[in-house]
Amino acid sequence: MITILAIESSCDETSASVCRNGVILSNVIATQAVHEQFGGVVPELASRAHMENIVPVVDKALKEAGVEMNELSAIAFTQAPGLIGSLLVGVQFAKSLALALNIPLIAVHHMQAHVLANLIPQEKPSFPFLCLTVSGGHTQIVLCETATQMKVLGETIDDAAGEAFDKTAKLLGLPYPGGPLIDKYAQLGNADRFKFPEPQIPELNFSFSGLKTSILYFLRNAGTSLVYKEEFLASEEEQQKFIAENLNDICASVQQRIVSILLNKLKKAVKQTGVQQICLAGGVSANSGLRKAFAELGEKHHWKTFIPSFEYCTDNAGMIAITAYHKYLAGDFVSLAVQPSARAEW
Ligand code: KG4
Ligand code: ZN
Repeated sequence: MITILAIESSCDETSASVCRNGVILSNVIATQAVHEQFGGVVPELASRAHMENIVPVVDKALKEAGVEMNELSAIAFTQAPGLIGSLLVGVQFAKSLALALNIPLIAVHHMQAHVLANLIPQEKPSFPFLCLTVSGGHTQIVLCETATQMKVLGETIDDAAGEAFDKTAKLLGLPYPGGPLIDKYAQLGNADRFKFPEPQIPELNFSFSGLKTSILYFLRNAGTSLVYKEEFLASEEEQQKFIAENLNDICASVQQRIVSILLNKLKKAVKQTGVQQICLAGGVSANSGLRKAFAELGEKHHWKTFIPSFEYCTDNAGMIAITAYHKYLAGDFVSLAVQPSARAEW
């Protein structure tokens, strides 16, 4: 019996999960509300909140799983990438527990874990599969050859897809994180009303910063132009009026463009690799427009498509636990000297 306790603390979610023989028994997530008033994650506040949350979250995860500490086979934690102060809390906690229980320690790469969240449900993709990972910090197309062998085929050269949603929301005066709100308003709007540009980026890489700039100019010109035009700048009042009268259509049009940027690259990746088992991962995969277009595309091209349930799409320790389970099987452990890293190569 392999029973693993996993801890995730890379950003603003403190999470713990218990996994037994590859089955998730619990996945407790404490979201830090403290950042909302600042319109983004404040690193120092995130580490403090992790320190407050980690003991109750781990306790709850063990209780929900009905597992005692002495039944654990290993402790897993997110090593990278993430906010260094936040990662440190999880790493120190995991090390102390592994030392006290005298059991092995497993270091997990957060982005690999997002991909492997697709192995949590009963109906799983078979290897090799492609995964489009879309979150607030990352946008990647990953070729997953085995549970321990992955290759990044393409990624964003600037903003992540989630950032594109959140920054657009900010321009529209919506609170952080604005992605879910854009999704909500988009459902009521006409996606063909406004045409935002699709960037021409080589290979399988993405770019979202040009889209953000064109939305900025579009709003400043009260919808008359996507380019910088000093003589056409609308007053603050005119901009607010334009947004208020057209919010649903703007959200629908922006969302449609973000989704088409993502899926056009995914189509290209399928063409290049010939792989037809396709997964989504990361918090943005909650987006209803993306889910619908992804499913339709899959049907049209006869791909087998997979999306983990929402609880395993946003940051969570369940995905760390499933990744750790496969690392356990491969004998991939780390020593107590292991350190976290804000940025990490694969
Ligand atoms: O994976 P995640 O929870 O955290 C990171 O690791 O970044 O992703 C959070 C991102 C945020 O940018 C949030 O706005 C976005 O996912 N998001 C959405 C939706 N739900 C969450 N974006 C668009 N539509 C949604 N329904
Ligand atoms: Zn994440």
